Amino acid sequence: MAIPGLENLLATGVRGERVFVRSDLNVPLAAGAIADDARIVASLPTLRRLLTAGARVVVASHLGRPKGQRRPALSLRPVAQRLAERLGRGVSFCEDCIGEPARSAIDALGEGQLLLLENLRFHAGEEADDPDFARTLAGLADVYVNDAFGTAHRTHASTVGMVPFVPRAAAGELLASELEHLRVMREPKRPLLVVIGGSKVSSKLGALESLALEADVLAVGGAMAYTFLAAENRPTGASLVEPELVEAARVLMAAAEASGRRVLLPTDHVVAQRVEEGAPTRVVETIPDGWFGVDIGPTTAKTYAEEAARAKTVFWNGPMGVFEIDAFAAGTRTVAEGVAGSAATSVVGGGDSLAAVHSLGLGDCIGHLSTGGGASLEFVQGLTLPGVAALEH
Ligand code: 3PG
Repeated sequence: MAIPGLENLLATGVRGERVFVRSDLNVPLAAGAIADDARIVASLPTLRRLLTAGARVVVASHLGRPKGQRRPALSLRPVAQRLAERLGRGVSFCEDCIGEPARSAIDALGEGQLLLLENLRFHAGEEADDPDFARTLAGLADVYVNDAFGTAHRTHASTVGMVPFVPRAAAGELLASELEHLRVMREPKRPLLVVIGGSKVSSKLGALESLALEADVLAVGGAMAYTFLAAENRPTGASLVEPELVEAARVLMAAAEASGRRVLLPTDHVVAQRVEEGAPTRVVETIPDGWFGVDIGPTTAKTYAEEAARAKTVFWNGPMGVFEIDAFAAGTRTVAEGVAGSAATSVVGGGDSLAAVHSLGLGDCIGHLSTGGGASLEFVQGLTLPGVAALEH
């Protein structure tokens, strides 16, 4: 079923209405500062259109995982400041997303003005999708717009629970554009290469199981590769291995092989004795005892980049190593360059992969940069995103 978009909403007019926009402003922070504001920038088109149409715009988001606690380090206040800079206009900030402070701040909002509410996850009701909390949020809105693609895979009060309680609801421009671009991945031109990295198999097991059977080639990197290497009884030194998932990794590889798919694991590694800046590194084929794998090695990176060149469709999620540390970033860089240089339809998703692509200045060479990590992974597997389904109803 088609979901109503911003066009439909604007056609019926929003002047003077309280439009509650659920954005995903969950930006990476480093030492308290915004490390990458791509999600803020991606949220601007919807906000600008609503402001121009004279709406009283109330923006809500989460930041990090405060688990129902008010954690000053996860306040959205710095995001309000950056949002104001990027919008080129004033942004008010309210220190709570519900209650009297929120009500008064919204009452004071004029047409074409914008307010950012404090972190939704400072209230446990958000992640619990508590009906009372959802109704309270809905009470702040005449119109609901979901533009938080990155959080569309979560069944939370602000993404799902509040929707039936608001008279009018629509998808924002970012959400709509993400769905349109990612649809390509559901019927990919072949061969399809999926490159998956990141630290843990556990966080992506469902996706790995499904994509191992869907992709012609599944290339695994990042720390999760060591659990796969352990499943092949290869030495992993002191690297992060999830012992309880070794068997699942073995089963997954066998299933992929039985259905004629290829799963590629690193054949060489960058290793260090400490996972920190300045630690001496070596490139090895066999990880020695006491050494940590911190990046895929150059031969592996070249192989993955060559697979990208051969593919017609590439989906990449998760870095190939601890790329925040320059000495451990070469694998991620080579794969990013390979994907950027390929003629394939490409989608890169996930905060870390995006940050890597941005820091290399390769953003313009990728078909689609998704603001959603978990959300894009779930979507390409064919799963229904609860935040999208809520709008359909
Ligand atoms: C993300 O960064 O993937 C989204 O903002 C969702 O955050 P979460 O994984 O903490 O729910």
